[in-house]
Amino acid sequence: MISRAFMSDMLRGIVKSFPILGSVRRYLNSYTSLNSVIVYFRRADLRNLPTLKNISPLYVKEMSVSEEPQIKAWFNIINQSFSTSWGKEDYIRNIINHKIYNILHTYFLMDGEKYIGVVSEAVFKKNKQVGVTHYLGLNMDYLGRGLGKYLILYALHKMKEHGLKSCEGESSLDHKKSLFIHFDYGFCPKTKLDYWNTAKHSPVLMRAIINYMFSRLYKKWKRTKACYNTGFSETPLDDVRVD
Ligand SMILES: CC(C)(COP(=O)(O)OP(=O)(O)OC[C@H]1O[C@@H](n2cnc3c(N)ncnc32)[C@H](O)[C@@H]1OP(=O)(O)O)[C@@H](O)C(=O)NCCC(=O)NCCS
Repeated sequence: MISRAFMSDMLRGIVKSFPILGSVRRYLNSYTSLNSVIVYFRRADLRNLPTLKNISPLYVKEMSVSEEPQIKAWFNIINQSFSTSWGKEDYIRNIINHKIYNILHTYFLMDGEKYIGVVSEAVFKKNKQVGVTHYLGLNMDYLGRGLGKYLILYALHKMKEHGLKSCEGESSLDHKKSLFIHFDYGFCPKTKLDYWNTAKHSPVLMRAIINYMFSRLYKKWKRTKACYNTGFSETPLDDVRVD
């Protein structure tokens, strides 16, 4: 009788002997999670930002990056927003020691003493002239009131105040709401990467498919926007999807 271990050794041997099979496997693996492949978008300059609305009594406070209660508040909000179970190491990896971005400032949205939202203002390590919005998250009880949109605009205003000329974002099709918010603020898909961008390996064909899907989403968003001058919150998210 052939054991499972023998079978899997044999399959591994076959894959090794034909490198093309390895590529096909890698390609198929990534194909199954297209929505989590990075998409890139940018706003060519930070002039003409809309003014920030008054959100009083809510307010924004800058995070003290080394204060334990604030670190905990950060990963609590992120865990709720992204369904993760991150801890302090993940905070350090993504905020203090991020490989691609220099995180300049992190801002909390506050309701009294309660931490309810978070966004970071960053620049690319390889090009400090270009800003990037990073890790936006909002407590579930506060969703759908324009507060996530407010936080992004807040970060953009801060970038402008800090002398940055343009801004980019790197996300995925999983996060359509955030993409739409960025589109509303003048961002559009960036299909050709620069040396400073996060360049996760993905097969060329896959990159082409993602670029196509993202551009279609953007075009569809633009068309829908033109039809619904009253604002997108009246349109279910599913109505603006790539089909
Ligand atoms: C992203 C997030 C912070 C947004 O916060 P929110 O409170 O849900 O969203 P807001 O009420 O602030 O945003 C409303 C805006 O979303 C966009 N939007 C919402 N529904 C939309 C739709 N169907 N079509 C197009 N745009 C839509 C519009 O820009 C809308 O603004 P408008 O009402 O002025 O048109 C929140 O959903 C969240 O924490 N998500 C999980 C984490 C995440 O995805 N983070 C970003 C990763 S890059």
